[in-house]
Amino acid sequence: MKTAKSPAKSAAKSKPAAKASAKTRPMLINGKWVQALGGGSFPTFNPATGLPIANVAAGEKADVDLAVAAARAAFETGPWSRLTASERGRLLLRLADLLEKNLEEFATLESLDNGKPLGVARVADVPLAIDLFRYMAGWATKIHGRTFPISVPYAPGARFHAFTQREPVGVVGQIIPWNFPLLMAAWKLGPALATGCTVVLKPAEQTPLSALRLGELIQEAGFPDGVVNIVTGYGETAGAALAGHPGIDKVAFTGSTEVGKIIVRAAANDLKKVSLELGGKSPNIILDDADLATAIPGAASAIFFNHGQCCCAGSRLYVHKKHFDKVVEGVAAAAKKIKVGPGHLPDTEMGPLVSEEQLARVLGFLESGKAQGAKPLAGGTRAGDKGYFVQPTVLVNTKPGMKVVEEEIFGPVVCAIPFTDVDEVVAAANNNIYGLAAAVWTTNVSRAHTIASALRAGTVWVNCYNIFDAALPFGGYKQSGWGREMGEEALSLYTETKAVCIRL
Ligand code: NAI
Ligand code: MG
Repeated sequence: MKTAKSPAKSAAKSKPAAKASAKTRPMLINGKWVQALGGGSFPTFNPATGLPIANVAAGEKADVDLAVAAARAAFETGPWSRLTASERGRLLLRLADLLEKNLEEFATLESLDNGKPLGVARVADVPLAIDLFRYMAGWATKIHGRTFPISVPYAPGARFHAFTQREPVGVVGQIIPWNFPLLMAAWKLGPALATGCTVVLKPAEQTPLSALRLGELIQEAGFPDGVVNIVTGYGETAGAALAGHPGIDKVAFTGSTEVGKIIVRAAANDLKKVSLELGGKSPNIILDDADLATAIPGAASAIFFNHGQCCCAGSRLYVHKKHFDKVVEGVAAAAKKIKVGPGHLPDTEMGPLVSEEQLARVLGFLESGKAQGAKPLAGGTRAGDKGYFVQPTVLVNTKPGMKVVEEEIFGPVVCAIPFTDVDEVVAAANNNIYGLAAAVWTTNVSRAHTIASALRAGTVWVNCYNIFDAALPFGGYKQSGWGREMGEEALSLYTETKAVCIRL
């Protein structure tokens, strides 16, 4: 795996690229670090250079079978099943503390594997993951049912005591993407463990390293064997085996809308529960009364944060005609100023895209946009010829119906579109298959409320963008997904409600 010959993260898709060697990172199944039964492994690459950084085990169906069996045993008969809610909460707190102790190492791993600037991983990815575990630890002891007055017309005079209790949904398969590898693991594991579920987690093949290291901390924190199993592997093999596995009760997925639909079909066989956090094409609306001094840098960071590799990226920028030129020039100037480079360099503000596949996809969008008449005011091409860098790009002269306007690009590319009328811009904003996030910039509180209500999106930011908190639910309308992660809402993704009715 040493040759630099095949830089594509996707090059070895589906088939394990090599036999495991002594250096192959093992995966966590039933408390043991093991190689794949089939003996396969695959490389993960540094996106800044295209060179391999490590080899990990290529889990497949047989490995998923073992992991699911371990999670089932842990759920039904293991010590986990007898822990109190308070003990579960304390384990989560311990995990958060361990993560905090190793913050620098996790930030480094995340930057190396995903390409993002180290400074960003240090202040965003890792602290948000720590916070999420602490927040969910608090919920472990607050998951309770209610009592109900019962009036049964056909049982006159009878008395009942009726109540609900919330129970863990069971064994959960969790499939996560590469854009925020550790944070996505935390969003998935936090509520699952707070509620008492057990888990088989499959990290993205592009970025498995932080999840594997997290597995070590999960053991160090004292979670019993089999409660969290981490199987590395490709989507079409390990992921598909997990999504369709008859031994799991629920699958939670974050990734492309295309694969989200495959997950739903795989889960349909036995109607396992499904939650999905999928794509977006989020509208970011600057009204004529906006404070441009905050809206312009806000619009730039809405799209360029994490290189545009955010499901909620503000990729359709609607600007009132009055300010259109000033705003697009401001965003284009911000784009040109962004320091693009390898994530480990201290002055880097934007790293490479995660993989050669994503580079090709984003460049394909740029070509299609230009061919259809869109004009780049900044960027518009690849940056350099090594690694997977793309220039931060601002497109104008777009038309409704163009691929760049309608589809998720998942790169640092924003389409700026002028408007004159508020109703018209709300209709345009909502006229998309996605509904994950949206934003509005205005100094008029009444318009802020009215537009926030009218936007069909799971999150609406007003005079800000990309603000996340463990307490705030996150998820999508329409084809952006099913269910809400984070906040109290996340608990309902991992619990069943049981009604108990006792005749007195
Ligand atoms: P993807 O949806 O293929 O990958 C996400 C996860 O799903 C990975 O762990 C992958 O191994 C797994 N997976 C893939 N195929 C599977 C299958 N058949 N069964 C079960 N699991 C499977 O996303 P990909 O190919 O990495 O990126 C493609 C596009 O998806 C991006 O350009 C972007 O538009 C979107 N995306 C959205 C994300 C989000 O946060 N909503 C995150 C990553 C990608
Ligand atoms: Mg894919």
